[in-house]
Amino acid sequence: MSENIVMHDYVVSREMRNHKNKHKSVVLWFTGLSGSGKSTIANKVEEALFLDGLQTYTLDGDNIRSGINKGLSFSEEDRYENLRRIAEVAKLFADAGMVTIGAFVSPLHKDRELVRNIVGGADFVEIFVDTSLEECERRDVKGLYKKARAGEIKNFTGIDAPYEKPVNPDVLIETEKESIDMAVKKVVTFVKHKLEI
Ligand code: ADX
Repeated sequence: MSENIVMHDYVVSREMRNHKNKHKSVVLWFTGLSGSGKSTIANKVEEALFLDGLQTYTLDGDNIRSGINKGLSFSEEDRYENLRRIAEVAKLFADAGMVTIGAFVSPLHKDRELVRNIVGGADFVEIFVDTSLEECERRDVKGLYKKARAGEIKNFTGIDAPYEKPVNPDVLIETEKESIDMAVKKVVTFVKHKLEI
């Protein structure tokens, strides 16, 4: 089938949208353990950019998994498929001119490389929210670590499924050493110059 698909050139291009919005569009990709603070920081980054007049949109793990990716498990294969679809959606949003924000555990190097390749390296900003397993487990905001330790959830990242730390992220956030406000400022400062037309 795919050999009969011809890509269509749109009249209104990404560049035209970027010029209208007066900023480029990138994908800000937050990775880290469940409960590390990815979504909290991502939401505040979006708020800051939005209030500054930028076009923004956030894709978030729990929401996507109850919609477009409903039914996918947390096996290595399903996580890969989860992230592949999200990356394609993120690419569309970036194409639509949005500063697109994603907050997903994305535990393996190969998962994040896949996203980077789909989105395109120049548009991809990797943000590692580095919170130790001990701290995530202490916070246990959703009560999932307790369940994972009790064996009620299988393949839980950090417990019986791996998390491979990014080696050279664009932005490193250490939530046990810096405040949320400091982390938000750090991301916004990093991203601002990338958005200039
Ligand atoms: S990913 O690994 O495929 O990138 P994703 O970010 O979509 O994961 O979803 C992670 C969220 O799902 C966690 O924040 C947590 O609330 C929930 N969750 C449920 N089961 C698991 C599990 N086995 N491992 C990690 N997170 C889980």
